[in-house]
Amino acid sequence: MKAAVRFVFGPPEILRIQEMPQPIPKPNEVLIKVHAATVNRTDCANLMAKPFIMRFVVGLMKPKLPITGTDFSGVIEAVGEQVTQFKVGDKVWGFKDGGLSSHAEFMTFPEEGAMVTIPEGISFEQAAASAEGAHYAYNIINKVNLEARQKALVNGATGAIGSALVQLLIANQIDVTAVCGGEHVDLVRSLGASVVIDYQNEDFTKDAGIYDFVFDAVGKSTFSKCKPLLSDHGIYISSELGPYSQNLYFALVTPWLGGKKVIFPVPRDPKASLMLMRDLLETGKFKPLIDKSFLLEEIADAYRYVMSGRKIGNVIVTVR
Ligand SMILES: NC(=O)c1ccc[n+]([C@@H]2O[C@H](COP(=O)([O-])OP(=O)(O)OC[C@H]3O[C@@H](n4cnc5c(N)ncnc54)[C@H](OP(=O)(O)O)[C@@H]3O)[C@@H](O)[C@H]2O)c1
Repeated sequence: MKAAVRFVFGPPEILRIQEMPQPIPKPNEVLIKVHAATVNRTDCANLMAKPFIMRFVVGLMKPKLPITGTDFSGVIEAVGEQVTQFKVGDKVWGFKDGGLSSHAEFMTFPEEGAMVTIPEGISFEQAAASAEGAHYAYNIINKVNLEARQKALVNGATGAIGSALVQLLIANQIDVTAVCGGEHVDLVRSLGASVVIDYQNEDFTKDAGIYDFVFDAVGKSTFSKCKPLLSDHGIYISSELGPYSQNLYFALVTPWLGGKKVIFPVPRDPKASLMLMRDLLETGKFKPLIDKSFLLEEIADAYRYVMSGRKIGNVIVTVR
């Protein structure tokens, strides 16, 4: 089978499309014919093994998995003898942040892994685009107690995480002010944000609004700069550690001080995220934002585009 392969850590130029043996499912696994996947920021971190801490997950000296990819959508081609929850022909999608070799024509996956069936009327591309960013977005809001009509500011509302976060907040009846570049203001308003700030024209940290939450989905701000935006017990969450990794320190210290605090959103339980996203896709409350599509053969270009930091929502790789 054809797959995107690398044997060392490095930039997109190290990726090759080459023939690899088709995997054989173990008794508890299914064999999946991959139709689509994304190239996302987690894939980029896994490709480069950056930050260094990634090496404890993806391989200390060289990649544990030569084939790249962290999410997938496709059709089950075969099932191991112990598999009970899925059958041949099921359309499924799934995610594993440490890598699952999905940038390939076929892959195997344990039935107990983070995998769910694709709802009726949802395409393979839409399903794949409802995994990585949506999982991290859900793992931001599941760290706080949301109450209808609270106010949240989302910085980076055009990213995979930010565009999912805006929609998850709207589904929870939160009033959202979103921040993005000028050319995407209408797009972000269409996701449900009531106010959209163009960060190229206005410093959102000087906004006069007071928010219960500031969520920085692209990690471009700091707690210190966002503090004036927060209500007395407001919460700041960023998808990044901050320029000096200070968000970890603040997350440990601020809960003990009372008042405004920082939470660091350690992501867990991707299956719970997928099950929620399946419900929201089914009820029309979530529409994944999709940017460009690339063929598997063009995957190095897809990585380069994602690494540019300019992608909107999700970048898809389709497998012919
Ligand atoms: N903590 C975790 O486990 C984890 C996991 C995955 C990703 N991440 C991090 O989460 C972040 C977001 O990833 P992502 O895939 O959602 O998106 P992304 O690819 O990092 O973000 C791209 C978007 O960011 C916007 N953007 C760029 N500079 C901006 C700025 N100064 N202010 C506001 N928006 C800006 C761009 O929109 P415009 O064109 O409108 O500017 C673009 O649409 C990344 O930093 C990534 O490393 C963290």
